[in-house]
Amino acid sequence: MTKRSYLTTPLYYVNARPHLGHSYTTIVADVMKRHRLQRGEEVVFLTGTDEHGEKIEQMAKTQDRPVMDFVNEVSADFRATWEKMGISFDIFYRTTQLDHVAKVKHALQTLKDKGEIVFREYEGLYCVGCERFLTESELNAKGLCPDHEKKPEPRKEANYFFLMSKYQGAILAHIEAHPDFIQPEQFKNETVSFLKQPLGDLCISRPKARLTWGIELPFDSNYVTYVWFDALLNYLCATGWPENFDQGMWSECTHLIGKDILKTHAIYWSAMLLALGVKPPKHLQVGGFWLIDGTKMSKSLGNVVRPLEMEEKFGKDTLRFFLLREMSFGLDATFGIESYVNCVNAYLANGMGNLVSRVLTLCQKNFKGSFPETSLTDADRKALEKRAQTVVAWDKGFSELKFQNSLKAWSELVTHVDLYVNEMKPWALAKDPALSDRLQTVLGVCLQLIQTMAVLIYPVLPHASRETLQAIGVEKDPAASVDLALENRFEFKVSLTVPKLFMRVQAPLD
Ligand code: MSP
Repeated sequence: MTKRSYLTTPLYYVNARPHLGHSYTTIVADVMKRHRLQRGEEVVFLTGTDEHGEKIEQMAKTQDRPVMDFVNEVSADFRATWEKMGISFDIFYRTTQLDHVAKVKHALQTLKDKGEIVFREYEGLYCVGCERFLTESELNAKGLCPDHEKKPEPRKEANYFFLMSKYQGAILAHIEAHPDFIQPEQFKNETVSFLKQPLGDLCISRPKARLTWGIELPFDSNYVTYVWFDALLNYLCATGWPENFDQGMWSECTHLIGKDILKTHAIYWSAMLLALGVKPPKHLQVGGFWLIDGTKMSKSLGNVVRPLEMEEKFGKDTLRFFLLREMSFGLDATFGIESYVNCVNAYLANGMGNLVSRVLTLCQKNFKGSFPETSLTDADRKALEKRAQTVVAWDKGFSELKFQNSLKAWSELVTHVDLYVNEMKPWALAKDPALSDRLQTVLGVCLQLIQTMAVLIYPVLPHASRETLQAIGVEKDPAASVDLALENRFEFKVSLTVPKLFMRVQAPLD
């Protein structure tokens, strides 16, 4: 039976335009999807936008625009950015879509009926400037709101609470029973130690007096739903829950998230699911932050990098390669134009690009289209062994979420072909007509190795992969099957034009 899986990115808030931080989780999901498709799996890939809540309402207000117009525009920007970057999402989910709103209400009513949601007075320190309760630890040394320099006023507010604390033990037990639920390991440990402290209940409502831009509670029209309670449900609703719940799809679900939203996913979301009688997702895979000058890239800090601009400047798919090569999944990494430029030049322009053009130029002059298998020498067979070894190392990297290791193994294959060419000196063989057969074999071996290199890199560099295969006359689609990577071929129709895969680039001077 075909293996099915379900991959999700976070739903991005529409108070910011898509930037590099958003691109990372989206690109990782896309690469994982393409990798799985090549291995015969069916994959549903969900991304989308998170459109309710105070931040968004405020942002629309500051621009003096109707909130719905504003969220439509930014959501469309996310969608268009991903489309232009070739992100192969299947579902673009918006939390303002009507079916979502209805399902969130259904979830709320179900939990209310089960006694999992209760009404309580909440007393705390309220900052009018912030329009929210602040905790003691948020106040500055003078006991003031650090943003407004004002003393917050003690206020009582009645709200609805989801009895999350009840699930503390069950979540811990789930984590223990499923050691690969939260990956990498450090985030599992972080969650476990958090769960060793007392866990409070979750306030899931906001009075309409201070927020209207949200989903109205089905049991009290004076309140809207807290944005996280609304947004997290997207993952489940997209599987057809509740009426057409595709349990098979849900049971193979992986959420890709950034470390800033670990608590909401590992704890709030697990508790919500357990209360609804649904198992938590199979995996939570947690990435680190992209930093610029040592701080997190974010809109409020004004240090954002726009993904599309990067691709326009430095070449198609180069951002995908760079982000996966540079970040060790789960740890923070620093974004720098210089390291981007060095990476493109070293691995793509001088690496893959140069190799393909070098071998193809030699083939155009000297390759007659085929070579017999029997002509392979021991040295050739040895050189070809690298193909299977690279496939194994590549897949191991993916299964361990160590994309860097996969890309290292792939770059080694590129270097390996270069060394084979240097050693076999096809240009010297070409000078002696008596060595013409040997020349055919050497070039044929190079083409077989290039075929492997192109098929393997497909999830990361889909364009360069297809262009390379076309140029060596391999008509099969690398997206369809990874078996093509190790398919032995003794005939290649090399194209008359050498593809220019990657240009050498320079960092802008400013
Ligand atoms: N809307 C919530 C998620 C709801 S999911 C049901 C949210 N949105 S967000 O737009 O603020 O951020 C979403 C994700 O973007 C972060 O968790 C993280 O995955 C990614 N990133 C945003 N900035 C980032 C970096 N500078 N570096 C890496 N990823 C970061 O939180």
